Amino acid sequence: ATPTSKLTVDTTKSGAVIDRNIFGQFAEHLGTGIYGGIWVGTDSKIPNTNGIRNDVVTALKAIKVPNVRWPGGCFADEYHWEKGIGKGKRPVTLNSNWGGVIEPNTFGTDEFMEFTRQVGTEAYVSANVGSSTPQETAEWLEYMTSEKETSLAMARRENGHPAPYSVAFLGIGNESWGCGGNMTPEHYTDEYRQFSTYAKNYNPAQTGDKRMKKVASGANVDDYNWTEVFMKNKSGDVDALSLHYYSGFEAWPPYQPASGFDETEYAKVIKTALRMEDLVSKHSAIMDKYDPQKKIALAVDEWGAWYKGEPGTNPGFLYQQNSQRDAILAAVSINIFTRHADRVRMANIAQMINVLQAMILTDGDKMILTPTYHVFKLYVPFQDATVIPVTYEAGTYTRGGITLPRADIIAARGKDGKVYLSITNIDPTQPLEIDASVLGLKAKSATGETLTAPKIDSINTFDNPNVVTTKAFSATARNGSLILKVAPESVTVVSLD
Ligand code: AHR
Repeated sequence: ATPTSKLTVDTTKSGAVIDRNIFGQFAEHLGTGIYGGIWVGTDSKIPNTNGIRNDVVTALKAIKVPNVRWPGGCFADEYHWEKGIGKGKRPVTLNSNWGGVIEPNTFGTDEFMEFTRQVGTEAYVSANVGSSTPQETAEWLEYMTSEKETSLAMARRENGHPAPYSVAFLGIGNESWGCGGNMTPEHYTDEYRQFSTYAKNYNPAQTGDKRMKKVASGANVDDYNWTEVFMKNKSGDVDALSLHYYSGFEAWPPYQPASGFDETEYAKVIKTALRMEDLVSKHSAIMDKYDPQKKIALAVDEWGAWYKGEPGTNPGFLYQQNSQRDAILAAVSINIFTRHADRVRMANIAQMINVLQAMILTDGDKMILTPTYHVFKLYVPFQDATVIPVTYEAGTYTRGGITLPRADIIAARGKDGKVYLSITNIDPTQPLEIDASVLGLKAKSATGETLTAPKIDSINTFDNPNVVTTKAFSATARNGSLILKVAPESVTVVSLD
């Protein structure tokens, strides 16, 4: 028999607002994430606007990307922004972190800002702390945001952008405990104070709510001491502290193939993703001690599945396929962020195109949308929505000695006033019937979309791009409750009418 679950959605109560920035993206100079994935150049035969792929921009606009973090990652702490501006030939440098390949610097600050303009998203610029100076960061901000006639602001004008850019977020260092300088938390906290002092945004439009938010480089996974030391000793303006956690492997290095795995491997990977709950809870508890009013956000600005690179690709390029497993993984991770929406107000999946758990894969002029992309599209109504509490008991699913919750469900009131429900059936072996009582609302029906796949390791390929895709879903009321029957290994988002 199909398992059933009683669900109660209490629309008379509300929780925190789900900051749209938890749906943020990350685009690093890594593999073909930028070159080929975003940037093809104005001379390319691939349809582009000012060198940026049209197909990619159209796809990204549909998922309403709130912010894009750039230029890294580890790349950011070796990046010197002045090499990436100007109309003439730019210096050619090495990308020492990612495959030791040539970095042509043809995609720099002005191209990134043009990309954010086309997508309609906000810029999250990651500044170099590890191998740079506060002065270099200060000058970069002056170049980007000053409206005065300073030499740097004039250079920006000559490079084609008279008006100051908006820098919504500034990351001060990346993984400063590792590739960003191998610092101790004590040392980094001092660096933060110094860099932050000179990191000024001059854009006159960026005041009040629009002021540039500063993100400190935070802990690796369960390094709670990092969070403790930073929170205790910080000073100056701090808007967010980051956390990086990659799932998909139990021990470094990542060994799982991105496709062609069995159900036990599926269960193992989802278990690693669910660890996010414990990490976010524990880091938040430390932050609560020093910031009970939750003024400082926890920014999970790198998360996602990290698998073994695809056979035949450069291992330094971190190119991996994306299966229905990744759709489930994305949904349960986002659900964790929404349950901590009072503290987790930013998250950036790694990475947007052609790298790790990507939204989009490209090959020459071809482009495919991954199962993860479809989850981000389904979740658009949850951007800036208000959490509605739910209770349910759906039982568990066990495979290979690993026990997982069978379902993961969240609800929220969207900005349009409608009540939205997201139901993830983690169990790949059985459908699930949800018997939903909706308090405070006479819900007669539910309509939306569901993301299903023939198999848990189904993928979209350039030859077969729609193996994993969404289809219409609807449910009606029976005896006063809504009956929603969802497929195995599926993610479903509906609005209640
Ligand atoms: O996303 C790939 C890399 O993972 C980033 O450059 C780094 O910050 C992290 O270790």
